[in-house]
Amino acid sequence: MSPSLTVSRIAAQQGSVLRELRTASLREAPYAFGETLEDALLVDPSSFDDTAALHSTSPRLATFLLYTEGHPCGLVHAYVEETPSERAFVNALWVAPAVRHLRGGELLVNVASQWLAQLGVSEVHAWISEENRTAVRFYERLGFGPTGDRRAMPSHEEEAESLFVRHLHPDEDA
Ligand SMILES: CC(C)(COP(=O)(O)OP(=O)(O)OC[C@H]1O[C@@H](n2cnc3c(N)ncnc32)[C@H](O)[C@@H]1OP(=O)(O)O)[C@@H](O)C(=O)NCCC(=O)NCCS
Repeated sequence: MSPSLTVSRIAAQQGSVLRELRTASLREAPYAFGETLEDALLVDPSSFDDTAALHSTSPRLATFLLYTEGHPCGLVHAYVEETPSERAFVNALWVAPAVRHLRGGELLVNVASQWLAQLGVSEVHAWISEENRTAVRFYERLGFGPTGDRRAMPSHEEEAESLFVRHLHPDEDA
């Protein structure tokens, strides 16, 4: 039987859960992210407490956690840039290997997109490593398409990432 998957916004006291999931994702999928495991391990663990507290209540930044049978097994960040264009993003998406292909990633991105839609945004962006064919296929299946923008990956400058966008429709579940 497939485990049941649920998503909820991080709670203020879940800094250690955030640290555990983030370091697990950087260890398991270092090719996917703009930060390295070493970067995350160098950060004072208390900064994850600060991030959890901020992301639990901020009107512009949120983290959503995926659970299987009550155990945290994935995450995604959602935010609106503090720039005049106020573009909205999802990033740091990761689902633990044991629960992949069960639509947990889709649930995380959809919940994050719905939260962003409630802020009035009509487009959600994601930077995706061009080497990460799985993520490209995953996001394309969810309706994201390339914008044409590219840049060097912050953590691996020899590799490029592409900016993808999904247009949200007001009458449609994101
Ligand atoms: C990308 C990721 C989040 C997908 O999570 P998931 O819970 O397995 O995704 P879902 O079950 O919602 O959707 C799976 C769909 O994504 C695509 N996909 C996922 N894994 C795939 C793979 N190994 N090869 C090809 N397509 C894949 C397929 O379209 C797949 O549909 P299918 O299961 O019917 O074949 C997960 O593979 C992951 O955490 N990867 C490592 C981190 C990462 O790359 N993050 C993205 C950073 S931009």
